[in-house]
Amino acid sequence: MKNIYLNIYKNSPKNLNKAKKFLKKNNIIGVPTETVYGLAGNAYSSRAIKKIYKLKKRPKKNPLIIHYDNLKKLKKDAHIDNRFLKLYKKFSPGPLTFILKKKRDSKICPSANANLKMIAVRFPKHKIIKNLLKKLNFPLAIPSANISTKISPISALDVIDEFGKNINFVLDGGRSKIGLESTVINLCGNIKIMRPGAISKKEIGKTLGKNILISKKVNKLNSPGLLKKHYSPGIPIRLNCKKADNKAAFIVFGKKYKKGKYIFNLSPKGNLKEAGKNLYKILRKVKNLNFKKINVVKIPNRDIGIAINDRLRKAAY
Ligand code: TXA
Ligand code: MG
Repeated sequence: MKNIYLNIYKNSPKNLNKAKKFLKKNNIIGVPTETVYGLAGNAYSSRAIKKIYKLKKRPKKNPLIIHYDNLKKLKKDAHIDNRFLKLYKKFSPGPLTFILKKKRDSKICPSANANLKMIAVRFPKHKIIKNLLKKLNFPLAIPSANISTKISPISALDVIDEFGKNINFVLDGGRSKIGLESTVINLCGNIKIMRPGAISKKEIGKTLGKNILISKKVNKLNSPGLLKKHYSPGIPIRLNCKKADNKAAFIVFGKKYKKGKYIFNLSPKGNLKEAGKNLYKILRKVKNLNFKKINVVKIPNRDIGIAINDRLRKAAY
């Protein structure tokens, strides 16, 4: 039997070249980013895009985020404006995804963006994915490396946990620093946050000098991040609990909670960033320990806490 751990590759020039070879042949690989791990494929190749949707069991109408390492490359595929440039200068590379108007002569495969007139684009900050993108003459479509509706992966092992032998090359970049997917902002027409993330609406609002709204509607534009069910460990979750039910895994936040077999603390210090980094780790752990239900305490709804609550609500749906 093949040892699946052999499919995890350390960061080295040799392995980056190996990754490049896989991608040039339109194969899909697992890659680290600072938000979560992703499944990367050549965004110009319909064969690669088809493989991503199949692996993830992702509905075809859910578009993918296209990842770049520089502005010059992006300009071949998308129209940009001043609002974009302000945000780009402040937050890129980093955990912010922009929805922009796609250029008519862009080579991005239409199925990568669900045949929409818009594409979502991001400049990731993690060194390994940045170096890989630099080596390529095509951008990468990189959705989170989880089966559709399941928990996003934050380590190379999590990617193997999701896909087993169906993925035979994962670059190991250590644990994802942020641990939650990027903030998605729609810059076509009225600016709106489609998916909250590490970069808050407050920071975006400050940069643009205006108040920014978080979209509440689920429509064909804002798809999977806004699907009602997502990030799910596949067991019932109850939110805003003061006490835990019998035998439930109790996910807590802050110093007033004791340690215990059933207690999982997102951040004993009460730090929201740390809680964001630990959320998917703890959800995956609880799932793998075969708990039958999860109770979660109330998490402060500010800064990255807004993103944590967004993911918890969808996991609980
Ligand atoms: O942090 C992240 O963004 C990670 C890492 C791997 O980069 N990627 C990620 O991709 O979260 P994914 O596929 O799991 O989520 C993509 C989100 C969805 O909410 C999708 O609806 C939105 O981006 N999106 C992508 N293209 C879009 C488009 N053309 N129009 C509107 N929304 C779009
Ligand atoms: Mg995802």
